[in-house]
Amino acid sequence: MNYSHGERLVISNTKIQPPLKIGIGILGLGIIGSEFANSLLTQTSSLREKTETDITISKVLIRNKKKRRSVNLPGDIFTTTGLDVINDPNTNIVVELLGGTDPAFDLVRKALLLRIPVITANKELVAKHGEELQKIADTNEVDFLYEAAVGGGIPLIATVKRGLAGTKIEIIKAIINGTTNYILSEMSKSKIDFDVALQKAQDLGYAEPDPTNDINGNDAAFKLSILSNLAFNAPIHTENIYTEGITKITLNDFQYADELGYAIKLLAIAKRSPLGSIDIRVHPALVNKSAPLAKVNGVLNAIEITGDLIGEVMFSGEGAGSKPTTNSILSDLIEIAQNLKSNNKPHSFPSKKIDYSLYSIDQIEIRYYIRLLVSDKPGMMAKITQVLGNQNISIASVVQRENTMIERVAEIVLMTHKSMEKKLFEAIQDLDKLEGVREIATVIRLEE
Ligand code: HSE
Repeated sequence: MNYSHGERLVISNTKIQPPLKIGIGILGLGIIGSEFANSLLTQTSSLREKTETDITISKVLIRNKKKRRSVNLPGDIFTTTGLDVINDPNTNIVVELLGGTDPAFDLVRKALLLRIPVITANKELVAKHGEELQKIADTNEVDFLYEAAVGGGIPLIATVKRGLAGTKIEIIKAIINGTTNYILSEMSKSKIDFDVALQKAQDLGYAEPDPTNDINGNDAAFKLSILSNLAFNAPIHTENIYTEGITKITLNDFQYADELGYAIKLLAIAKRSPLGSIDIRVHPALVNKSAPLAKVNGVLNAIEITGDLIGEVMFSGEGAGSKPTTNSILSDLIEIAQNLKSNNKPHSFPSKKIDYSLYSIDQIEIRYYIRLLVSDKPGMMAKITQVLGNQNISIASVVQRENTMIERVAEIVLMTHKSMEKKLFEAIQDLDKLEGVREIATVIRLEE
C-alpha cells in the first residue's frame, strides 16, 4: 500500500463492510423513466456517497422490446411483464413511472404486500388509491413515497408532511399543472392559439401522453387532492373537487384581462373555514397582475400556503419535465436507501382523519368576468344589466367593442362585484335566453 506525502495512515480494527447493494426495479421507461434510469447510471458514485449503498438497476418494465432506447442497459434487464420486475430477487425498491392506474395500482399493491418499498411519480394513482396503498405500506412497514407526483422538482410533499407539520394549514393556492401554465403563458405572451401552444408543451415533454387530463384540469385536481389530504388530514377525493379546464379561454380573453389588469391562470385552491368546511376547486381564474402567482409563467409551478404560524409561504420551480421530476424521485430513493441502510422504520401516515364537509361551488361568493357577444342595437346594455340586477348581481365595470368580424355585433366584457355563484349562473341562463344575446363566450372567476 502506498501513501503519498501528507496523507495520514489510519489504522482501525473495524472490519470494513462492503456497501449494501440495492436493486431498483423500474416500471415504465418513457421520458421520465429514461431520465431516471440514466441518472442512476451516471450518478452511481454520488448516490453511494449520500447513501453508503450501491444502487443498481435490477429489472425494467417496458411496453415494446423493439423500440430504440436512450438507456444503455443489458438486454436481459428488460421485460414486458410487470411481475418480473417485482419478483426479481435483486429488486429491493420499485419505482413506478407508468402513469394511469392500470396496471400501476395492481403492481404497486403487490410490491408493497411483498414488503418492497415503492416510489411513484403517478398523481392519478396516489389521488385515487393513495389511502389504500398507504395503509398497506404502513401495515407492512415499508416506504411508499411520491414526492414526484406533485410539483415536479419542488419538494412539496416533504414540505407539507414535515416542514409545515407544526402549522395549521388554512389555504393552499397553487399553479400545479405545468402544461396548462405553459399554454396560458404562451397564449398571453406570444398570442398563439391554444392548439399551437399545446403542441409546443407536448414537444417539450410537459404534457401527459394523453394531454386530456392536463387541459381539463384533472391533473391539477389529482395533485390538489394529494396536497389537501396531507395538509388538512382529510381524504378529499378528486371526484368531489369542482374542476374546470382551460379549453374555453381564447386570445380575446387575454387581451381584455390584460387591459383590466389581470393575468389568467389555472388555479388549484383549497381553503379551510374556521368551522372546518373546505372550499376546494380547480378552475381558470383572473389573478391581479401584481399578485405573485400572476408572475409565475411557462412550465413553472407555484404554491402559496397560508398557515397559522407561518403566515404565507410560497414555493416555485419547474413543475413538469423529466429532469425536475427525476430530482424528486431521487430524493425519495435516497431517503429509502438511507432507511434500508440504517434499518429505520418508515414514517407512517396519520390514519385518523378529521371530520370535514366540502363547500359546494354554488355557495362560493366571488367576482366574475363575463364575455358575451350581443346584437349591437339600442337598449341591449339596459336589458343585460336588468337581468343581472334581478339576481342581485352588481356590475363593477363594462368594456364594449364593436366586433370587426361580424357586422352589428358587439363584444361586451362585464366585471361583477362579489356575487354568489348560484345566482351568477342563474343570471347567465337568463342572459342566454335574452333576445339579442348571441353567445355567452366565457365566464372566469376572479381570485383576489
Ligand atoms: N403533465 C404534468 C404537468 C406533468 O404538466 O404538470 C407533471 O406532473
